[in-house]
Amino acid sequence: MSKTIFLMGFMGSGKSAVARSLARRLRWPIIDLDGLIEARIGCSIARYFATHGEAKFREVETEVLTSVARKQGVVSLGGGVPTQSVNREILLQAAAEGALVIYLRAGSEILAERIRRQPGKRPLIDGDGELDMEATQRRVNELLAQREPLYMECANNVIETDSLTIPSVCREILSRMDEI
Ligand code: S3P
Repeated sequence: MSKTIFLMGFMGSGKSAVARSLARRLRWPIIDLDGLIEARIGCSIARYFATHGEAKFREVETEVLTSVARKQGVVSLGGGVPTQSVNREILLQAAAEGALVIYLRAGSEILAERIRRQPGKRPLIDGDGELDMEATQRRVNELLAQREPLYMECANNVIETDSLTIPSVCREILSRMDEI
């Protein structure tokens, strides 16, 4: 059985909530990439983006991803992890070694609505100040269009989550683990 499950998807796709629930059911450790990054940088990701910029954040993100890639656990990835080719290679290599790399796919309207409920948390969406719904939607559409092929390139499993609850996403993942 695979020893690492990576949960990948856009901001607001439910990675953290699914990771918590799945890790509890499997009795596996939960590895929250953004949480580990914040522990390393000593401040929130939003603040780090504002003070150091995205490129620096991506460097730390790759370091932290490298350090967890072979650990047993349910890894909740940040939504931008697959934007870096080095990170895509890490995920593809992990998949080749038996990891599940699951893309939690969600429609852009659902994503934009969830993101709007947590203003100030997503520097790539509202880093310059709070956006209205229309501007948030435009930004989500734009980023999602760029990232969708990258998520699909890295994933060995895709789950359409729009009509699913967190427990049913977990059940779906567990059933796919049984198949391998
Ligand atoms: C990012 C997503 C965030 C966080 C950072 C960048 C992105 O994580 O890593 O703000 O580029 O999509 P979540 O997907 O957990 O919000």
